Amino acid sequence: MAGFAECGWFGSVLCFLGGITALYYLLKWSWRIWQGFKVHVLSSVWPTDLRVYGQWAVVTGSTAGIGRAYAIELARRGLDIVLISRSQEKLRRVADEIESRYRRQTRVIQADFTEGHSIYPVIEEQLKGLKIGILVNNVGMNYAGMLVNFLDVPDPEKRITEVINCNILSVTQMSRMILPQMVERGKGLIINMSSEAGSQPQPMLSLYSATKIFVTYFSRCLHAEYQPRGVTVQCVTPFVVSTNMTYNIEVNPLVKSAESFARDALNTVGYSSFTSGCITHALQHIALAIFFPAWLRLSSFCVRRVEKFAQERKQQIEERMAQCQKKQEDKHK
Ligand SMILES: NC(=O)c1ccc[n+]([C@@H]2O[C@H](COP(=O)([O-])OP(=O)(O)OC[C@H]3O[C@@H](n4cnc5c(N)ncnc54)[C@H](OP(=O)(O)O)[C@@H]3O)[C@@H](O)[C@H]2O)c1
Repeated sequence: MAGFAECGWFGSVLCFLGGITALYYLLKWSWRIWQGFKVHVLSSVWPTDLRVYGQWAVVTGSTAGIGRAYAIELARRGLDIVLISRSQEKLRRVADEIESRYRRQTRVIQADFTEGHSIYPVIEEQLKGLKIGILVNNVGMNYAGMLVNFLDVPDPEKRITEVINCNILSVTQMSRMILPQMVERGKGLIINMSSEAGSQPQPMLSLYSATKIFVTYFSRCLHAEYQPRGVTVQCVTPFVVSTNMTYNIEVNPLVKSAESFARDALNTVGYSSFTSGCITHALQHIALAIFFPAWLRLSSFCVRRVEKFAQERKQQIEERMAQCQKKQEDKHK
């Protein structure tokens, strides 16, 4: 009898704990689904009017891929655009397209972000007098064109500096340059392009992955500091987008085109300050966190498998890189 009573008491406690746990997960997932619905569905029905931030948008790395797509989409939504990249010829081509298609003003600034601090006074001088409402810190580069161990690139000493200058210094210096006028007006939007590769540690993409978690943390902290003063800092963490960086991989339900990614991601402004940018990338992020967590990625078993995979794919990727390079050259002849 006593045993039964004890079991009944124990059973009630278990039932209670089970109920609380079930309720916790129900609320947690309902909240997440509502947030996802708001950020990726409602945002496309009622996108924020981006002109409220100010007349000009500055986009770094804006002659190709995601940066070009952001620049064109922002012009389509009524902003004048400052384009910053290395190639004057490509800059002029994108500027002409924006001016003729959307009748917006453009400025172009030629700069190489791998060069470090020397370029910023020149950029600052050229931005003087512009009312900049939006800054898109998009420019970024890979450590190598494929999965490699940290030492397995030609001239790693030079490459490390280039990647850090391009992926980290550019974001911090451009924000430092443009944030003051946004704070003064009490209005502004900074969009920082991080990556899904930064949401968990990624062996064989170590430097790239580490630079992207820097962008993520920097953006989230800056948002917390400056949101009360009217400046939104949005961090975008895309999965795979078909661009030169990904050798123009075929678009499919998981891989977005740059144009469609930029459209979806810009819709999320005002709805989220930390986003995968589009619904398919958000779902891939959840799936990866569940089925491929950090402890598994970092295990020696997994690292060996990734090394083997990279070796097997090396030739294929090199051929794809060469094809991409040729395509680019033919396009610009
Ligand atoms: N594609 C993806 O799947 C993916 C996924 C996650 C995150 N991202 C991030 O998204 C951003 C854009 O990537 P993307 O795939 O669009 O790259 P992309 O296709 O390689 O385009 C890079 C752009 O940046 C410019 N650029 C490159 N190096 C530069 C430098 N040193 N100085 C100035 N401009 C430079 C290039 O123009 P010029 O050659 O004319 O200079 C080009 O306009 C990056 O931050 C990347 O890390 C991409």
